[in-house]
Amino acid sequence: MKILATGGTGYIGSHTVVELIASGHEVEILDNLSNSKESVLDRINEIAGVRPKFFNADICDFNALSKIMREGNYDAVIHFAGLKAVGESVEKPLEYFETNVGGSVNVLKAMREAGINKIIFSSSATVYGDQGLGFYDEEAQTGIKIACPYGETKYMIERILMAEAVARPEFECTILRYFNPIGAHPSGLLGEDPNGIPNNLMPVIMRVSTGDIPELQIYGDDYDTEDGTCIRDYIHVVDLAKGHVSALDKMKTGAEVYNLGTNKGTSVLEMIKAFEDASGKKLPTKVVARRAGDVPVHCAIADKANRELGWKAELDVADACRDTLNYLAHEARG
Ligand code: NAD
Ligand code: UFG
Repeated sequence: MKILATGGTGYIGSHTVVELIASGHEVEILDNLSNSKESVLDRINEIAGVRPKFFNADICDFNALSKIMREGNYDAVIHFAGLKAVGESVEKPLEYFETNVGGSVNVLKAMREAGINKIIFSSSATVYGDQGLGFYDEEAQTGIKIACPYGETKYMIERILMAEAVARPEFECTILRYFNPIGAHPSGLLGEDPNGIPNNLMPVIMRVSTGDIPELQIYGDDYDTEDGTCIRDYIHVVDLAKGHVSALDKMKTGAEVYNLGTNKGTSVLEMIKAFEDASGKKLPTKVVARRAGDVPVHCAIADKANRELGWKAELDVADACRDTLNYLAHEARG
């Protein structure tokens, strides 16, 4: 298939583009480079042997989007582009609704105009909110007690996609709810390189390991879990990327939702230990107060993706730590 990947130079997008090319798809990328670099295209070329055609464009610019889609002859869109920092979304809600919700509406309108019927959307486990279930399958309710505007945007976009699927009988929509993506490409050429001060556990661990952050703050060790720290479902980004290829092969009319996770929880202390084991170095840590909005356990039941897409996560947190360290070493060499 010929695919347009919005946000395709980003962390998850770039890994997915590599897997799509490896599976014989033709991919073009649209990104405004607000959180990624054009040099990612060379990295993709090095791994996959193809430098995807690139459009430096913004999903908020409907005219640009529409022209690219009308001229591109695409079979499908994979829509990764958006803003994703939870804390920033509390401070700048309008920017988040404008880019994530407004931008997604533009993507859908441009698709309709160009006669493109297939879309895969990057949603998030955050749509399940805080229901205290611990493990979530796709039947769990969404939209309840969502902790931040970022999460609200994902929920709203899902609702918009579902409405469009009702309005357009030929529309094929797959919503993928990612749990906690971590890790890097085993080549060391692609990985997560967040601008500014990171918030997520693995990027913070990376900065602590390089000495850029003096110590890892553990946000609470008094949760009702075995070791007192929060438990999440960390999924290797290469597994996640492969999930998109499986989803593309199995698209059908209507809107379908799939969790992409590992069915397995890892605590903050277990993650620190896994990284220390992989690097052979101790990380300086300090237990501090709980972070507002955190829940003790938030993990996937991803059986539906296994059953219907034939997809299953194959890598574990040890693989992710090894590949992250390899990426860091590669970046340090320049
Ligand atoms: P990322 O920031 O690395 O990638 C997003 C890309 O979108 C970037 O390259 C950025 O430059 C681009 N972009 C942002 N605004 C744009 C705009 N207005 N027009 C065009 N391009 C724009 O993030 P990621 O981790 O690769 O996430 C990809 C998608 O997956 C996002 O929608 C994110 O919300 C979702 N997601 C991510 C996680 C996670 O933990 N990484 C978890 C769940 C869902
Ligand atoms: N943590 C620390 N110290 C840090 C950073 C994180 O102890 O410096 C802990 C957090 O308290 C949490 C765990 O590590 O218990 C994981 O935190 P992340 O920020 O990496 O991940 P979250 O599960 O909190 O957030 C993720 C996504 C969000 C999404 C949310 C809900 O990053 O986009 O899941 O699904 F909204």
